[in-house]
Amino acid sequence: MQVLENRVALVTGAAGGIGRACALALAAAGARVAVTDLDPFALNELVAEIRTTDGDAMACRLDVADEASVAAAFDRVIETLGPVSILVTCAGIMAEGPAAAHDITDISLDDWERIQAVNARGTFLCIREYMRRHRKTPVQNGRIITLASAAAQLGGYRGDPCYVASKAAILGLTKIAARQAAGSGVTVNCVAAGPVKTGMFERAMNSEAVPGLVEKIPLGRVGEASDVAAAVTYLAGDGGAWVTGSTLDVNGGYRMQ
Ligand SMILES: NC(=O)c1ccc[n+]([C@@H]2O[C@H](COP(=O)([O-])OP(=O)(O)OC[C@H]3O[C@@H](n4cnc5c(N)ncnc54)[C@H](O)[C@@H]3O)[C@@H](O)[C@H]2O)c1
Repeated sequence: MQVLENRVALVTGAAGGIGRACALALAAAGARVAVTDLDPFALNELVAEIRTTDGDAMACRLDVADEASVAAAFDRVIETLGPVSILVTCAGIMAEGPAAAHDITDISLDDWERIQAVNARGTFLCIREYMRRHRKTPVQNGRIITLASAAAQLGGYRGDPCYVASKAAILGLTKIAARQAAGSGVTVNCVAAGPVKTGMFERAMNSEAVPGLVEKIPLGRVGEASDVAAAVTYLAGDGGAWVTGSTLDVNGGYRMQ
């Protein structure tokens, strides 16, 4: 029997680098995976890839910033695959491109609200929905895994302030959710990733700055999405059963202290 057999996982931001890797890893471990993102069509290829390896998956549109969309997605996933056992919240955005303000005094309220809406509110809405459903229909070995960032732990050497603050909100929310969900046997943990080679990284990072960044990473490389997915799979599995309220650093030693 595979580690995650008979478990249903819902992954947000699954069209992105880390979400996709998490969906593939959870499916490879036997979970039936609902891959969700803003554009469900972008997910069809991922569903097909999972099915070629005998995995089970479905695609579902989900805007994590929208309360009704989150509820509707949970309805659809539960109807199709059954109660959600594992929630992985990968959907996230940061200010990008030349217009991205890194000085607090230059940040517009619109930018602040836009980034909090996806990263902080979106994580809150998904956790709340999971916990509401779980209280009505408990499932064994419940797991919630959130995605924060070394940027929130470090104050973000190069991160934009909206992003850093939104990821810090996730660190705190993960702990309070862990306390409240523990009584129903659900663990809640956060993976704080360092720099990982994905679309977000490529868009935010000037390629000339990459060698300088790598020099600051003791393990001597930028992370792969699969590095994060491996940590998520560990937390989702039996090995993570007595781990809750933790922040797992997956950063090549970038934040060693
Ligand atoms: N890549 C890194 O270096 C890094 C480091 C630390 C943490 N993270 C975090 O990991 C998570 C995944 O990031 P990634 O690097 O794979 O980025 P990515 O840009 O490749 O993927 C992010 C995904 O989130 C989706 N998304 C955006 N807004 C959404 C919304 N409102 N509703 C649903 N989906 C939405 C996007 O469509 C995209 O597919 C993010 O939360 C990010 O903050 C990334």
